[in-house]
Amino acid sequence: MITFNEKSGIFKLDTPHSSYLMGIVDGKYLSHLYYGKTLGGDDLAYLMQDPSMAPGPSVLPGEKVSFMDSCPVEYGTSGTGDFREPAISVWNEMGQDACELLYQGCRILEGKPGLPGLPASFGEQAQTLEIDLKDPVTGLLATLSYSVFSDTDVIARSVRAVNEGNNSLRLTRCLSACLDMEDEDFNMIALHGAWAREHLPEKRTVGYGGTVTESIRGIPGHDANPFYLLSAGNADKEHGNVYGFVLVYSGNFLGKVEKTQFGTIRAVLGIHPEKFSWLLTPGESFQAPEALLGFSADGIGALSRNYHDFIREHLIRSKYQNMPRPVLVNNWEATYFDFNEEKLLSIALAAKKAGIDMLVCDDGWFGSHRNSPSGCLGDWTENREKFPTGFPDFVKKLHAMGLKAGLWFEPESISPESELYREHPDWVLHVEDREPVQCRNQWILDLSNEGTVQYLIRSLESMIRRTGIDYIKWDMNRPLVDIGSSALPKERQGEISHRHVLAVYRIQEQILADFPDLLLENCAGGGSRFDAGMLFYSPQIWCSDDMDPVERLLIQEGTELVYPVSAMGSHVGSSPYGITSRKTDFDSRALCAMAGTFGYELDITRLPGEETAKIPGQISLYKRIQPLIQKGDYYRLASFRENGWLDCVEIAAKDRSEAIILAVQVLTQPNGRSFRMHPGGLDPDIHYRVKELRPGEMDSDTDDSDSGNVVRGDILMQAGVLLEPVLQDFYARLVVIRRV
Ligand code: GLA
Repeated sequence: MITFNEKSGIFKLDTPHSSYLMGIVDGKYLSHLYYGKTLGGDDLAYLMQDPSMAPGPSVLPGEKVSFMDSCPVEYGTSGTGDFREPAISVWNEMGQDACELLYQGCRILEGKPGLPGLPASFGEQAQTLEIDLKDPVTGLLATLSYSVFSDTDVIARSVRAVNEGNNSLRLTRCLSACLDMEDEDFNMIALHGAWAREHLPEKRTVGYGGTVTESIRGIPGHDANPFYLLSAGNADKEHGNVYGFVLVYSGNFLGKVEKTQFGTIRAVLGIHPEKFSWLLTPGESFQAPEALLGFSADGIGALSRNYHDFIREHLIRSKYQNMPRPVLVNNWEATYFDFNEEKLLSIALAAKKAGIDMLVCDDGWFGSHRNSPSGCLGDWTENREKFPTGFPDFVKKLHAMGLKAGLWFEPESISPESELYREHPDWVLHVEDREPVQCRNQWILDLSNEGTVQYLIRSLESMIRRTGIDYIKWDMNRPLVDIGSSALPKERQGEISHRHVLAVYRIQEQILADFPDLLLENCAGGGSRFDAGMLFYSPQIWCSDDMDPVERLLIQEGTELVYPVSAMGSHVGSSPYGITSRKTDFDSRALCAMAGTFGYELDITRLPGEETAKIPGQISLYKRIQPLIQKGDYYRLASFRENGWLDCVEIAAKDRSEAIILAVQVLTQPNGRSFRMHPGGLDPDIHYRVKELRPGEMDSDTDDSDSGNVVRGDILMQAGVLLEPVLQDFYARLVVIRRV
């Protein structure tokens, strides 16, 4: 609910468990007053007496910098005395950087409007507050927008800048969120890593000068993610104040938290100002992407659950969000480039027998010579040597077997060795007089060129139409460099990185509109574009190229901090595993992949007999727990990252009828004893049967079994579920807790 008290000049936004307050200071400045646990009542005017907002009735002209640099503002500006991290910077025609935003007016709307050209949350039970702030000198109007929803503690924020002046302006930054707060001894937790070890949480104390998470790679990258949280000094999984910042965006980003000279905090999030500028001629506007602010007074676990629910209910649009996702087999790590139709059909046959739903043909199916990672990107028609009767015919055969069919594309890239490059050398992103830099033997297409965008829409759509495929894996295997376009004038070259992201959104939007039954999975060399923006288009994203279960436990733990388990593309890989050489057990690989979309990515025609025999049981177990994975509440019970031996994830049904615990003992504990896991999300007053499925028993979970202990929910949550010690590395077990 949103209210505006005209007398006190206070805006109050209430979510079920949090309040967010702003006030108009001195009739002109929009100040931030409070964000935290719900405040009842409306006697809040005293908050405006904070001395840092004080020098009223009007800001003293001789001491204006003191005010500008200390007042907790809602959207910090640059060049007029606020030396904290600005949210917006505007250059006038002379290239001079100054802006002061003064309150103009507000509107409270029912519902949640979308954002033109950008992914954005949606919801019917929502209200939106728009506040207009204007710089009287340049004429720049900034409309701050805040949406609250009846069922969630997430607030969606965004900003639109319009040039209402008579001269051209240049935005050199336009961030999505800015939050000035009292210091609560905050730590920043952000996700970092590298290829094959993405999304590893790192906790840092917020200090003077700023604590940063960022990307200027054109995509979020393996080493960062457009998300961070701030946990108050004493906060942990279950207790304390935690604030979340998620950017619904898939390109360069800046997340920064700064401790100021007065010991207060400014936190910002938005498109990275580096590699960004946007020309606004009179009348033109710029829309910044959406930021999702979250608050929990009950620790990090509750914040993660809030975000999981929000992303599932208010951000992922795909009809597959609530439908059983197909269990797939992907041929990439089974064959790499060495395959043809015959080989794929043998995999398909084994897949069908095992109960798999879909075969995905990965890299190498297209162009004249794509037998290694060089060549043919851009030539999106099938290789007739590999598919002698054509790909449509191959898809027909899969469909006739009762399997769905999927295809890999990497639309944003172009190979120097491609027909496309020979025909359109000017479509490559490049800087004048420089040979563009290759990465994985490829360049990036210039998506600020409309011809390129239309070519991609045409060629992808023609392939989908001709073949009748059911699924696309959209990959992106390199960062953006040589950021220059021959399609744009010089004053707009600073717009290319953002225009690239907008074009990716536009192409995916168009394809999904034209093929509403298509299941899209995004990917970027594993998880380097795993973000809330991509989830608006695809309900699942390939989480990492690393399927070693030990590595995956770490990667998935970080990803689950904010993104729903149901969105994580995860497959069973081979052993010993290519990337790590580690040998692991088939059951632990499967259990690990079940906390995600589930599939196989190894040559299932060549497995040892006992492993082949296990696949149908693994699939039937996954299908039984899939509704929980897709809709349940996530609790982290033990972290291998923290304890060095055991990983435990619980998923509890929203109606509290059932929960599962996926437990992987990575390393055995010598001289260990039994240990207890404390599940959450159970009904304290009802009885549950607790059953532990050990390796080899994964397919024996039936509802009618009366084995296992029957215990009341409150006892299970407080005294814990007992797990016996086992002397075995990579030992996976599933605990099923079901209402009797
Ligand atoms: C990327 C993806 C992999 C696979 C290869 C194919 O690395 O992350 O899953 O599709 O490309 O080249």
